[in-house]
Amino acid sequence: MKIALGVGGGIAAYKAAEIARALMERGAAVEVILTAAAEEFVRPLTFAALTSRKVITSLFASSSAEDVLSSSVEHIRVAQENDVLLVAPATADLMAKFAHGLADDFLSTLYLAFTGRVILAPAMNTNMWNHPATQANVATLAARGHVILPPDSGPLACGTVGPGRLPDPVRIAEATIDLANRRRDLEGETILITAGPTQEPIDPVRFISNRSSGKMGYALAAAAAARGARVILISGPVELDPPYGVELVRVVTALEMHEAVMKHLAESTIIVKAAAVADYHIAKPPLQKIKKTMARMSLELDPTPDILAEVGRKKGDRLLIGFAAETSNLVEEGRRKLETKNCDMVVANLINLEGTGFGAEENEVTLVMRTGEVAPLARLSKREVANLIFDHALKLRLALHATQ
Ligand code: CTP
Repeated sequence: MKIALGVGGGIAAYKAAEIARALMERGAAVEVILTAAAEEFVRPLTFAALTSRKVITSLFASSSAEDVLSSSVEHIRVAQENDVLLVAPATADLMAKFAHGLADDFLSTLYLAFTGRVILAPAMNTNMWNHPATQANVATLAARGHVILPPDSGPLACGTVGPGRLPDPVRIAEATIDLANRRRDLEGETILITAGPTQEPIDPVRFISNRSSGKMGYALAAAAAARGARVILISGPVELDPPYGVELVRVVTALEMHEAVMKHLAESTIIVKAAAVADYHIAKPPLQKIKKTMARMSLELDPTPDILAEVGRKKGDRLLIGFAAETSNLVEEGRRKLETKNCDMVVANLINLEGTGFGAEENEVTLVMRTGEVAPLARLSKREVANLIFDHALKLRLALHATQ
């Protein structure tokens, strides 16, 4: 995978070095183009050392007639050789040039010559970002099908606080790799995904929860969005940034998750229930803090609605994927949940293995399917597991339709 990384002249230009590195760590070949303004902030040598390649800084780098001729077609070579053009930071000036087709330096000329996928990560002062001129240019570029990674909000180098910060370099690199790899086989699907734990209040101060980090559900959401699906991510409280392009619905309790799932059920074609929902809660938690007056105390808990089972009853021909977190009898428990909750697939994992399951970056799961097929997957990153779950889900749907 080959990526042309255009760096604009903004204070965030130094972060482009981290982006280049994160892209290369994920297997991409990176060719860097610095604008003249970017060169004021970062030296070409930094990028040359990182990428082991010449860094392009000018449309007319040489003075001899022969060299001018060869370097003047350099932008065509770069346009033809690279799969994705990433511009980070994309300044207001660069986006204005791109939107209006100005071509007065290497990067803007390359943009016009480039026919592949384009991804822009704008970063600038909040007022510049909010200005109608910038917003109109962003809208023009988005309408051309380019991916725009909206800036993060926070304190900016200029002293103001608001939108304008370049997002985390690793997130930019991952979004770029997604774009380069993009399989669009989930286009047209609306995928409802639940993720994370729920929190059930005991009183205004305390709650009952579990060890779910939400990483598996968020990886599913990111993979589905990258493959072209509309994604509704219903998430319990987690410490994760939502993936680009997903519709995030934040909930806290099992009851709130239940309500959100039921609200969005009709519009979904695939439902993935990766959340670790509390099975019991305190139906009416006291409004005042419980004081330490008793020598011993017990909590009376009532069951929460089993969301997965209810979706199973109402699902019609939607594809339903449940999860089963187990400490033993993986496949038997997976089968039992598949039957009792009317799922089409259960993703079963042993949560007592070292390095997988709750909070881990990797997962090792077994897919138990309505067709009777059982597919144990290798230990992989949660993102790779997510993609394999969708690969199997699409095959499963074909198999189920064929037998109907
Ligand atoms: N689930 C749900 N609503 C609940 C409890 C669980 O939708 N109130 C869903 C989870 O999102 C998951 C699946 O059910 O997809 C299985 O969750 P798990 O906790 O493994 O199973 P339980 O049904 O709670 O069964 P058990 O406690 O017997 O293992």
